[in-house]
Amino acid sequence: MDQIIVTGNGALSGQIPIAGAKNACLTLMPATLLSDEPLTLTNAPRLSDIQTMTTLLQSLGAEVTSLQDGQVIAMSSHDLNNHVAHYDIVRKMRASILVLGPMLARDGHAVVSLPGGCAIGARPVDLHLKALEAMGAELELKEGYVHAKAPGGLKGGVVEFPFVSVGATENALMAATLAKGTTVLKNAAKEPEIIDLAHCLQKMGAQIDGEGTDTITIQGVDRLHGATHPVVTDRIELGTYMLAPAIAGGEVELLGGRRDLLEAFCQKLEEAGVQITETDKGLKVARNGNGVRAVDVTTEPFPGFPTDLQAQMMALLCTADGVSVLEETIFENRFMHAPELMRMGAKIDVHGGTATVTGVPQLKGAPVMATDLRASVSLILAGLAAEGQTVVSRVYHLDRGYEHVVRKLEGVGAKIERVREQ
Ligand code: EPZ
Repeated sequence: MDQIIVTGNGALSGQIPIAGAKNACLTLMPATLLSDEPLTLTNAPRLSDIQTMTTLLQSLGAEVTSLQDGQVIAMSSHDLNNHVAHYDIVRKMRASILVLGPMLARDGHAVVSLPGGCAIGARPVDLHLKALEAMGAELELKEGYVHAKAPGGLKGGVVEFPFVSVGATENALMAATLAKGTTVLKNAAKEPEIIDLAHCLQKMGAQIDGEGTDTITIQGVDRLHGATHPVVTDRIELGTYMLAPAIAGGEVELLGGRRDLLEAFCQKLEEAGVQITETDKGLKVARNGNGVRAVDVTTEPFPGFPTDLQAQMMALLCTADGVSVLEETIFENRFMHAPELMRMGAKIDVHGGTATVTGVPQLKGAPVMATDLRASVSLILAGLAAEGQTVVSRVYHLDRGYEHVVRKLEGVGAKIERVREQ
């Protein structure tokens, strides 16, 4: 397994290009199952999760071709010859559950392995299943698989989510586009990735209103046609790299960055003493000489502070003047980066969903272990500000969600390399 070695090297300077959003692409790709005409995605990120989704769709009989070094994904689901999403693929990536709604809506039957949990939590899919049942689906759980049927096709219904779920909103939204009649999703997720999915579906001929609000109304249509759609900018990659100059000092321009994707996060960064300026190429982020101020953070569904940036923000707050309190309200086990940061000299006290971080003047490089996707990159960020060398192992977690991390950070002056584990 590879390791990434980071050596604290002072202030950063330069530009980092931001890729298309992993979490948009992972829901846009299954949308190809809704139509027998080609769906092409541009601005796609080059990530192992995208490869996993490609393998899954191909296992169902879809044609998925990666062009222009992975930036374009050309798909066609003209001939689906298998309606079973197998455990050996689904267990690698939870987002695989997103083939259930489209497959059921298009052909009236689907068998999808339950994804199982992951490092950050149990992550059940009960809301996905309840939403499809509200549209008339007959579901049976057998030997770890969901057997779904909709013999006469799905019917429009009212889906009231008890709490916000990004994936359940996406599954229901896609299924509803081909259901007979009107579907209303209440307490729907409002993330930019949901809006991007809705825009792509509208290009395919879907009748959708209210995307980006907590009530989405879908008028089912008989069929959807093909489309070409650019994947929206990755707000989590953007926020992650905004934290690089914040933690190491200096000034970096994030190409393609959009503040509207991350307003709550930007406000917290500015509260902590980081300057953010909108430019014609994206966002410029600087911290020149002034210290980092402690701030309190509570993760919430969009437009609140994103849970996917909590680990990265914690790395910054480990170096702040004062005490910061981080509340993780979305996942039950998303502080696994804390013990690793403590190996670097951070002072963090975790109780349940609350982490209290007492800033220290200087982090020290150390061997640390990546435990999940966002935790892995928070350790790299900490390494940028640490004295000496930080060796991050199990970096396969990183490859799921960050393309060319070493090249992007090297490009702004970081001392970072990727090596085979000794
Ligand atoms: C999406 O996961 C993202 N993944 C996650 O990003 C992100 O952290 C999360 O949304 C929240 O923003 C993708 O888009 C592929 P949820 P998802 O359904 O859809 C519980 C990353 O790092 N829940 O909004 O799975 C669930 O356990 C990943 O890129 C149920 O109980 O998240 C969680 O506690 C990590 N039953 C909460 O709701 C359900 O049926 C929110 O989950 C569904 C969810």
